[in-house]
Amino acid sequence: MSGQEKNPLYHVLKSQQFSRELLDELYEITNKIRRLNKSKEGLDYLRRMLSHKRAMLYFVQPSTRTFLSFLNACQILGIQTSEIRDTTTSSEVKGESIYDTIRTFCSYVDVVIMRHPQAGFTEEIAHYLDQTPRPVPIINGGSGPDQHPTQALLDIYTLRESFKELGGIEDKTIALVGDLKRGRTVRSLVYLLKHFENVRLIFVAPKQFQMGEDIKAFCIRENMPFTESADLESIVPESDAIYMTRIQDEYDANGESKIIDYTAFHFKHDFLKILKPGGVLMHPFPRRLEIDISVDSDPRAMYWRQERNGMWTRVAILVKIFQIAEKILSL
Ligand code: CP
Repeated sequence: MSGQEKNPLYHVLKSQQFSRELLDELYEITNKIRRLNKSKEGLDYLRRMLSHKRAMLYFVQPSTRTFLSFLNACQILGIQTSEIRDTTTSSEVKGESIYDTIRTFCSYVDVVIMRHPQAGFTEEIAHYLDQTPRPVPIINGGSGPDQHPTQALLDIYTLRESFKELGGIEDKTIALVGDLKRGRTVRSLVYLLKHFENVRLIFVAPKQFQMGEDIKAFCIRENMPFTESADLESIVPESDAIYMTRIQDEYDANGESKIIDYTAFHFKHDFLKILKPGGVLMHPFPRRLEIDISVDSDPRAMYWRQERNGMWTRVAILVKIFQIAEKILSL
C-alpha cells in the first residue's frame, strides 16, 4: 500500500471527498491550532512541525484571501513556500505545457496548492501526477466555476462556530444568494451541508443564474429540501444563515451579467431589522456591493471572522495531509 493510499487526506480536490468524520477531525485540529496560536510557545512549537517541508502556490487566477491564508498557514507550520501567480512569468509563456509545469513543481516541493480558471482541471492534474514516479498532494484553491472545497471547509467551520449554542448546523435554514450557477463557493458548500440533518436550503438568484441542475439533483438524491426564489427580502426572516455572493462576471461569454439588475440581490442595511436575532450573515469575499459596509458592525455579520477562519482551517488541512494530527492533538 502506498503512502497516498494509507493517508485519509492526500489530494484535496472536491467537497464530495469529505466524510462527516473527517470534517469533525479537521475542526478539532482547527480549534487546537487556534488555542496554540494564543501563546508564543504554542506558535514556536507549530513552526517546528513541518519546517522540513516545502509548498508551491500556483495561483494563475486572481486571489487575495485563499492565496494569503494558505501562505500564512504554511508559515504557521514552518513550511517554506514558492509561488507563481501569472503564467507569463513561468515557462508556459515559452510553450511548456501545464502538465510539464506542474510535474516540475513536484521535483522541488512536497505539496502544490493551486487555483486555476478551468473547471475540473485540478482533478485532472492530480490524476495525471498520480501516474508519474513522484506525485505530491494537490490542493484545489478554486477551480473555475465548479469547486472551491477549502472555502466550503472554512464556511462549515464558521457555521458550526456560529450555531454552537443554537444546536449546531442541524435543522437550520440556509439561504445562498447571488450568482449560484457560476459561484464555486456555494456549489462546494452544498456538497458539505449534506452531512448535517434537516438542513433546508433556499437558492436566491436571478433566473439566469439559479443553482445548477447538477446541484439540485444532488439535493434531491440526498433528501435536502430546497426552494428557489428571486426575492431576497422575503426570505430574510425565515433564514438562519444568509450566504451572499457576488456576480461572477469573469465567466461571461457575451456580457450576460450586464443585463441583470443585481441590486435586487444586495443585503441592505434595513434587512438587519428582519434578520433573526441569532442569524448569521456570510460572504466568501471579495464583495462588491452585495452587503452595505454599514452592516459590518452588526454582530451577526460573520464574514470578517469567516475569512480569518480560512487560515486556521487551512492549517488543519496541511496538518492532516502531512499526518501530524496526532502530535498536535496530543499537546
Ligand atoms: N473567497 C475567496 O476565494 O477569495 P479570494 O478570491 O480572494 O481568494
